[in-house]
Amino acid sequence: MSTGNQNVSDRRETETAEAAHWDSVANRHREAFVARERQTTNDPLHDAHINAMGDIGDDLVLDLGCGMGLWATEYAAAGARVVALDVSSASVATTRERARRLGLEDRLLPVVASAHALPFRHRTFHAVSGHLILHHLDAETAGRELARILQPNGKAVFTENSARSGILMFARRFLCGRFGIPKWSTPDEYPLRKSDVVALTRPFATMEALYPKFDWFFLLNAKLFGFRNNRMNRLCGWLDRTIPAILPFLRRYAYYQVLILRR
Ligand SMILES: C[S@@+](CC[C@H](N)C(=O)[O-])C[C@H]1O[C@@H](n2cnc3c(N)ncnc32)[C@H](O)[C@@H]1O
Repeated sequence: MSTGNQNVSDRRETETAEAAHWDSVANRHREAFVARERQTTNDPLHDAHINAMGDIGDDLVLDLGCGMGLWATEYAAAGARVVALDVSSASVATTRERARRLGLEDRLLPVVASAHALPFRHRTFHAVSGHLILHHLDAETAGRELARILQPNGKAVFTENSARSGILMFARRFLCGRFGIPKWSTPDEYPLRKSDVVALTRPFATMEALYPKFDWFFLLNAKLFGFRNNRMNRLCGWLDRTIPAILPFLRRYAYYQVLILRR
């Protein structure tokens, strides 16, 4: 993510690279995602996101950076009319197939476009939802577009990563991609910095950040042990619950956050 106004050609280049990367992911995993069962959350992060969305009834909801449609189909199943938008055409095609398999195609419109130039009129949507999309975007442009297409009193809810923890960013910079530790990110993405959040939220009336989950040890476990060791899984889960319970001020250094933006 970049905080300032990236110039248009840099932005296009980033969008093209993102589309190519996520197209190849979607082409590899399409069948599994189409066949995957409905999301059962039971995860404090997802539960906080769904709570923040509130009662979406038959609202018009935009799922920004919908990927392979896991969340867009949930909102459609809950009764909302959903526009599922992504820059990756293979991801959007997978979302369309998944919606068809679940009998939700009447409630879900798949769209291939960039979040930097949303092809919708001003004040179209009641709500916007996004999972792990903001840190792929130019913050200022995305914030402006989101504020433009939301109705007055509309809200946008995002589950995002965060660059606030120096320890995690050190590990990301110097360890991931070395010593056999996997690196999963695309070259242009970087966890959300404070300056990104400021730029993104400028056109909004209010912004609230929640930290429902700590996840430092979850990440350590994922990277070093791939969740293969049950004892390690239990220990890491316990540490992630216990440390922020004893030292609550650490919560804001969690790797994931839920951001709630209101017009
Ligand atoms: C980490 S994936 C998350 C997908 C989905 N939200 C999920 O949680 O399963 C990030 C998604 O953002 C999309 N993306 C990246 N840049 C974008 C842009 N400029 N406009 C719209 N989507 C974009 C990618 O194609 C990819 O599907």
